[in-house]
Amino acid sequence: MIRTWILIGIDALLTAAAFLVSLMLRFEFNFIEYFLRGIWPLIAVGVLVRPLVLYFSGIYKQVWRYATMRDFLRLAIAILTGSVLIASSALYLYPHYVTTLPRSILVIEGVISLIFLGGLRVVIHQLERYPGDILWKRVKLGPARRVLVVGAGSAGVNMIRELNDNPQLGLRPVALIDDDPRKIGGKIHGISVYGPLVNLPEISQREKIEAVIIAIPSAPQQTLQNVKSVCNSLQLPYSTMPSLTSFLKPGEELPPPSPMKLPMSLPDITGEEIEAVVRVMQSRNLSIGSQTMAFEKFAAAQANAAHAVAVINGTAALHLCMVASEIKPGAEVITTPFSFISSANCILYEGATPVFVDIDPLSLNIEPGLVEAAVTKRTRAIIAVHVFGQPADLDPLIEIAHKHDLILIEDACEAIGAEYKGRRVGAIGKAGAFAFYPNKQMTTGEGAVLVTNDEKWADLFRSLRNQGRDQFDGWLNHTRLGYNYRISEMNAAVGVVQMRRLDDLLARRNEVAKEYESRLKNIEGVSQINIVPTTTRMSWFVYAVRFDEKIDRNKVLDLMARRGIPARPYFTPIHLQPFYRQKFGYKPGDFPNAEKAGESILALPFYASMKPEEVEVVCENLAEVVNSLKNP
Ligand SMILES: Cc1ncc(COP(=O)(O)O)c(C=O)c1O
Repeated sequence: MIRTWILIGIDALLTAAAFLVSLMLRFEFNFIEYFLRGIWPLIAVGVLVRPLVLYFSGIYKQVWRYATMRDFLRLAIAILTGSVLIASSALYLYPHYVTTLPRSILVIEGVISLIFLGGLRVVIHQLERYPGDILWKRVKLGPARRVLVVGAGSAGVNMIRELNDNPQLGLRPVALIDDDPRKIGGKIHGISVYGPLVNLPEISQREKIEAVIIAIPSAPQQTLQNVKSVCNSLQLPYSTMPSLTSFLKPGEELPPPSPMKLPMSLPDITGEEIEAVVRVMQSRNLSIGSQTMAFEKFAAAQANAAHAVAVINGTAALHLCMVASEIKPGAEVITTPFSFISSANCILYEGATPVFVDIDPLSLNIEPGLVEAAVTKRTRAIIAVHVFGQPADLDPLIEIAHKHDLILIEDACEAIGAEYKGRRVGAIGKAGAFAFYPNKQMTTGEGAVLVTNDEKWADLFRSLRNQGRDQFDGWLNHTRLGYNYRISEMNAAVGVVQMRRLDDLLARRNEVAKEYESRLKNIEGVSQINIVPTTTRMSWFVYAVRFDEKIDRNKVLDLMARRGIPARPYFTPIHLQPFYRQKFGYKPGDFPNAEKAGESILALPFYASMKPEEVEVVCENLAEVVNSLKNP
């Protein structure tokens, strides 16, 4: 309290001094006595009013040691408010003040008060100390370690302040690193911001970094893990601010240690896709619009098909193929057991029976040589699945379909852009479906597209996806039983951009597959899946490897997981899924090739942006795991 009274007294004196100085400046020391005699009542008002305004503005409660620019701005506003009140009092005190009070005095006084009172706070800000405060500048400290702070967000910036305020920690921040291009190249608290994060090794070398503080609490675990692994490889000690997720899920176990946390798959999204979605939102046209039409045009063109119809997912697309094929209860549809469950579920949706035919062990696709034997009087269609992005052997299937009057549907959900004997898959049969879940070669979030060369089928698909309305049906008129399988404009807009990028995405996946292939050659007992001669263009969906019979695939899966490297078994054959076993009585041994593949195949992390170093980490770990199983 005493401190406050002292400050009030000083402010009052400084205000009086400001009046005197302004008189001096205005009259260069002439007539000062004359004017002083006239304006002392105003000086008295000023001396009273200004500290009062400061008091009510809360300026005396301020701890100036910790003041920021905002606090100084508040002070300036309070001083100027005081000046306005003093000038208003002058109007009252000197109705004819031209001779007794030159008005410029009021302005000059305001500016000088600003300098005096503001200056006083700047001095306090610099010098104010408390009992027990240590004057670090006078304390001899050992040489500080040069620290790089990862993250130039609020956590990183506060970390810099803390380190600067606590030199006794022996950590001197010398560089910040961030991915935000708006921050890179700038300075924060006098410290340069570098980036992006991938340049960490280079920057730490250039800046002679001795320790790293990771201050990115809201970053994904994977980013954190990658920064840590870079620090490990550079042998830099690091500490990490706890991530927000650790607050959200207390007690959750950390993932097992691994040099890098790799995702199983990763959609390749650029600013273009994001912008496309924003543009749709701005247009307010969120369903059945220009984006869906554009998406369909691109989809038809890439498959060399006459028509394309976009729907909400691959399962819906396959279901519409069954409806269009007039598959009814009691009918049979031939398909492969080695696929994702939708390939058979779509048959069940129409009350028909899936008839499985085993696969060719090389291509992993339906074995055409076994199909004819499965045809009965009730067979209506064949669904050929292009597993993992490798086309099924379509020519013999087309022949069988012609011979027995069957409809051939292509489940190309995993195979956009693939080529069978130089022909794009999708519309080689009657119709086909491509799916765009985020793990696919291209994505729309959720979404799929049907392709066909049959105009009637395309119209039928459009009607079926839109609650059974025909093209010329009026509002709420429904010609047939339909479904709501419409895709949204946001999904379609993402699809348009991804379709434009499709060739690049496929080429980059091909590069990653090549990288895997060259590294896997050195691991005995592990092989890439076969690319058969009819596949003239592979569209890599997953990167699947096959293990020798001597290697226990499930053990590999478990040991890789312990090292933090994800992998997925592909596929548990459909006939061995609990629902199918129960409904149809299937048992192990029914389709031996599909079962053998299902037991020995593992898909490894795979995405277009996967770097060779990441492939290397996967392959090195795989080699170690496989060796440990061979030599327990
Ligand atoms: C072979 C196959 N068919 C059908 C589907 C179903 O697609 P969606 O997940 O979009 O329904 C998938 C999806 O993974 C698939 O791989």
